[in-house]
Amino acid sequence: MKGIYKAVKIAERVYWVGAVDWNIRDFHGYRTKRGSTYNAYLIVADKITLLDTVREPFYEEMMARIASVVDPARIEVVVSHHAEMDHSGSLPRALQAVRPKEVYASVMGAKALKEIFHDAVAVKAVRDGEKMSLGDMSLTFLETRMLHWPDSMISYLEEGGVLFSQDAFGMHLASSARFADEIDPAVLDYEGGTYFANILLPYAPLVAKLLDRVKASGFTINMIAPDHGPVWRRDLERPLANYARWAAQEPGPKGVVVYGTMWHSTETMARHIGEGMADKGLEVKVMSLDTNHRSDVAYEILDAGALVVGSSTLNNQMLPAVADVMTYLKGLRPRNLVGAAFGSYGWSGEAAVHLTEIMKEMNVRVLADPLRVRQVPDERALAECVALGARIGEECLKTMEGSEGEQGG
Ligand code: FEO
Repeated sequence: MKGIYKAVKIAERVYWVGAVDWNIRDFHGYRTKRGSTYNAYLIVADKITLLDTVREPFYEEMMARIASVVDPARIEVVVSHHAEMDHSGSLPRALQAVRPKEVYASVMGAKALKEIFHDAVAVKAVRDGEKMSLGDMSLTFLETRMLHWPDSMISYLEEGGVLFSQDAFGMHLASSARFADEIDPAVLDYEGGTYFANILLPYAPLVAKLLDRVKASGFTINMIAPDHGPVWRRDLERPLANYARWAAQEPGPKGVVVYGTMWHSTETMARHIGEGMADKGLEVKVMSLDTNHRSDVAYEILDAGALVVGSSTLNNQMLPAVADVMTYLKGLRPRNLVGAAFGSYGWSGEAAVHLTEIMKEMNVRVLADPLRVRQVPDERALAECVALGARIGEECLKTMEGSEGEQGG
């Protein structure tokens, strides 16, 4: 079994020694429909160094890949860029097996690892900007607090110009290909965007600052090696430009209508609102929560300018699937959206009112009172839905013009 797992050389004396999790489909509510990888890297410097580990069940796979290059007992230094268990889960077993001389994390990382593993892991803290000699090679560390945990950091290997970017520039994508240039670019953009929308969106302003900091660092980056998905060795402008665009959260000419429906009346309203937005020139996505997952909704709003949410009223509340997606979206803190709420109801109709309150809490610029229709919408009600969609479409386009003007100024 061990013999089948081999390391993959990604740069001179640098190897991928991670694991492929083909079948993971859920990351705390984010649906990972293409699986994932947990990337660990081995630097064969004078001081042989392991960067990160893998989720605990994949420990043997990681160790076998390491053993295909060097005897794991020769590892002198272990670095944990991020304490989350998809990267640190194998750390206690790896440390026991390898017994490295030094284990490093950021200041917050050392604290987090202590809280997670207690006395099983003893870690020294590295400072932000610290350059560490590995003998004939060197690593420089940059803290990336709240991207996306307080402990997160990245590192730069001067020899070879490799940026080990941790969760940043990664994606949940299981593949036998180790390099991004071996994968369909449309898949990379989609999975990279889905990852950003579901993991990094709340911290988008910090991503923008990080990009500036990396630019100002003077690092010559030839390769970006994240902790999930493929390694970027060519066309680095692609992930960098994508991140700059997603982090800016400029509203796009796109409206997302999300809804839950009981007997299709709210659905009919959703479709008419969508038509109204499309009439004004928006790209429209109409998403039933019977068939769309919350993480797909998060992806769609990444480049949208309008969000419209509908729900039937059930026992004086919104439908459970709608409450689920709103809790999720609120946590992701999307910015620069206009929108409104709507829904059909039988006798009390609270759902659209509650949705409006939540959207305001999310800082969505709500453009209208909740549009509520008793029972089944008639022609007049449907015309109101089209008119609401049109109004939202117009405002979305105006907001875009405003934000372009601000940028130009
Ligand atoms: Fe991939 Fe935040 O761990």
